[in-house]
Amino acid sequence: MKPGKALIRHYLQFKDLRAEEYAYLLARTTVIKQRFKNYEKYTPLVDRTLAMIFEKASTRTRVSFEAGMYQMGGSVVNLTTGDSQLGRAEPIEDSARVISRMVDLVMIRTYEQTKIEAFAAHSRVPVINGLTNEYHPCQILADVYTYIEHRGDAATTGGALACLKGKVVAWVGDGNNMANTWLQAADILGFTLHVSTPSGYEIDAKVAGVTNQACLKVFDNPLDACRGAHLVTTDVWTSMGYEAENEARKKAFADWRVDREMMAAAQPDALFMHCLPAHRGEEVDADVIDGPQSVVWDEAENRMHVQKALMEYLLLGRIG
Ligand code: CP
Ligand code: NVA
Repeated sequence: MKPGKALIRHYLQFKDLRAEEYAYLLARTTVIKQRFKNYEKYTPLVDRTLAMIFEKASTRTRVSFEAGMYQMGGSVVNLTTGDSQLGRAEPIEDSARVISRMVDLVMIRTYEQTKIEAFAAHSRVPVINGLTNEYHPCQILADVYTYIEHRGDAATTGGALACLKGKVVAWVGDGNNMANTWLQAADILGFTLHVSTPSGYEIDAKVAGVTNQACLKVFDNPLDACRGAHLVTTDVWTSMGYEAENEARKKAFADWRVDREMMAAAQPDALFMHCLPAHRGEEVDADVIDGPQSVVWDEAENRMHVQKALMEYLLLGRIG
């Protein structure tokens, strides 16, 4: 495929799409998910190929993109640093020029955001961020969908976003790629992000690049961040690429474990989310992640449904 350069839309950060595009995508996800649940064949991406490039480990991202692409009639090529020339210092720009002449879509999981931006700048086809050190937009897309599915109206374009407006999401833990992306979502979709991190691991609003500073409220005490929240969420203490800091982080993060007291401080119908993989007894207690307020398995499954809607949108535009 050789689209005109001006037509290419990439998804490198959550803020690459507008609120009204999210309203469409979230409602579209419901249609696509329902077809999957009904065993209805839906193959709009026949003859299209997705290249996936993994420079870090993955379970959910790999399976959700690969299964999703096959379900839509397309094919997948999987590349890792170890089994491609990417690991032997071929420039990212050259890799982008070559790979994007052979496939229709590229998903990349890598380290610095600058790497995926360099790839996208030299790609003929849309590029999707499957996680970088700075952002994880596909995960937050799934998380937002999951919240709406449980607490709002995920079936209609208007209804999809309405239930998030004015809500409070509490982030407990590292000021990492997930936190940055939640902050972009708060800015675009109109909710408030309460953030509590240990000292030295703060969220940097400049990384998210928010326009409305009021969408972020910072708390020293994680319990205070959870007060009145509609959703409580956390992530591992040590993200991929930061393993050398593991011991120091274990000490620094000891009080940033989501427990029953934190969930009790939130709204009575608050949900708990975690992008997974989780470490029970570190960032979350088992009775929270395995408890009645947790929606982590729906959250993981929804990665596939939202990404199918996203791939369809980037390749075919709006349907219907
Ligand atoms: N949540 C997530 O991205 O999981 P994986 O690292 O398994 O892909
Ligand atoms: N913050 C975590 C998310 C894993 C899905 C990491 O980057 O390792």
